[in-house]
Amino acid sequence: MDIRTAIYVISSPDHTKAPKPDRPEYAFIGRSNVGKSSLINMLANNEKLAKTSGTPGKTQLINHFSINDEWYIVDLPGYGFAKVSQAQRKKWEKMIEDYLRKRENLVNVFVLLDSRHSPQKIDLEFINRLGGWRVPFTLVFTKSDKENQRTVSANVKAFLEKMRETWQFLPQHFVTSAVKRMGRDKILGVIEEMNKEFEEGRRSHGS
Ligand code: GTP
Ligand code: MG
Repeated sequence: MDIRTAIYVISSPDHTKAPKPDRPEYAFIGRSNVGKSSLINMLANNEKLAKTSGTPGKTQLINHFSINDEWYIVDLPGYGFAKVSQAQRKKWEKMIEDYLRKRENLVNVFVLLDSRHSPQKIDLEFINRLGGWRVPFTLVFTKSDKENQRTVSANVKAFLEKMRETWQFLPQHFVTSAVKRMGRDKILGVIEEMNKEFEEGRRSHGS
């Protein structure tokens, strides 16, 4: 898929303030600092689109970006950021849960996992919650340029094996590097397919 335009639309404190749900939407979520904003910028071909930072907790709102004026990318705040108060964390969790469960045009959630690490409890727990809510998702292993290939493969395999203990079907997964621009074509290809399905679904429902 060609990216012709990538435009920042709005940052919303909750899903009710988000843009009209009139086109397919894809959310990117994962631990704080896992590389969500960097991945979005790689996909969009625009290093300045989503704000990235070495300091975790940079993204705090629901950020909508319009791609080709046809679909939305959403950058969400990361979970598991230690340096926020319990109250702040609860607020974020509620905002994210409401958004993920109620956003009607949300087609798929890309769950980002740091490819340098072995399976983390916090990620598995988040994925289990997504499953409980019946939200479709795909796994994206990030920062693969930071480790050797063997370690990355072992971490990916270990994560899938951990999931297999409780999940009957395993989701699709991608290995990426924002620095090396790896995984871009595959993720955009999947989004293109899902955009088509969204459009077909809309036609067959007569809206
Ligand atoms: P929050 O919004 O704070 O939750 O973080 P985030 O998940 O959006 O992460 P962000 O994209 O801001 O990246 C965090 C740090 O990791 C930055 O210093 C990035 O430059 C770095 N980073 C992100 N992706 C990659 C990658 O693929 N390779 C390498 N080497 N560094 C990366
Ligand atoms: Mg971010």
